[in-house]
Amino acid sequence: MSIIASNFKTNHTRKSTATFVKEVNDFLVSSKITNDVYIFPTSTSLDTFDSVSNLTMGTQNAYATVKGSFTGEIGTEQLDEFGIKTILIGHSERRHILGESQEEIAKKFVFYKELDYKIIYCIGEPLEVKEAGLEKTLEYIYEQFVGIDTNYENLILAYEPVWAIGTGVTATNEDITSVHSAIKSQIDKPLLYGGSVKVANVAEICKLEGVDGALIGTASWNVEDFKQIIENTKDL
Ligand code: PGA
Repeated sequence: MSIIASNFKTNHTRKSTATFVKEVNDFLVSSKITNDVYIFPTSTSLDTFDSVSNLTMGTQNAYATVKGSFTGEIGTEQLDEFGIKTILIGHSERRHILGESQEEIAKKFVFYKELDYKIIYCIGEPLEVKEAGLEKTLEYIYEQFVGIDTNYENLILAYEPVWAIGTGVTATNEDITSVHSAIKSQIDKPLLYGGSVKVANVAEICKLEGVDGALIGTASWNVEDFKQIIENTKDL
């Protein structure tokens, strides 16, 4: 069954997040859809939401700490307040825009693994690597597994080519299946695809061999579209 995750990035307010979550929850209840759905709002919008068991709220980021002096960051003390036990780690925007190194990412992974968090771990190559071919792409991706326990039981992977994120350029089915089958041959974990997934292409992508769902940014921020995305993949 497809896993569908929405990454809000720096979008939505506390108020609009609450409305969004309620609408998605009501939709899951009324449509009896049982696929696993995740929503990652901004940290200012985390809260205790009433939701069905297949709708999980997660954090887009947190520091590898319970609490302390890490200006601008949050730790598990803040996440525990809302019962958050799910985190995105390794997103390319944190790697490339916020400058998180593989070492820092691995440290964060180890910390949240120890606490049994569900981790959605993102990997993906920039355009110049993709243009160098599949072998170079896979080499680059495997470097992103350094320090990561790929046998961790609460692990979901997300392959998100950097050149496809927020650009409107989705990877071709062939690009997706070749990378997914290579990763799957090494690591036996659910593997989502992310990068310009939208209402119109989500079902086709989720039907591909080796694709277990989608991690969606832009196209998920409108609640009607997100519900349609869930609807389009409910039997996949
Ligand atoms: P996008 O982002 O859907 O806007 O391409 C995906 C992601 O970064 O998770």
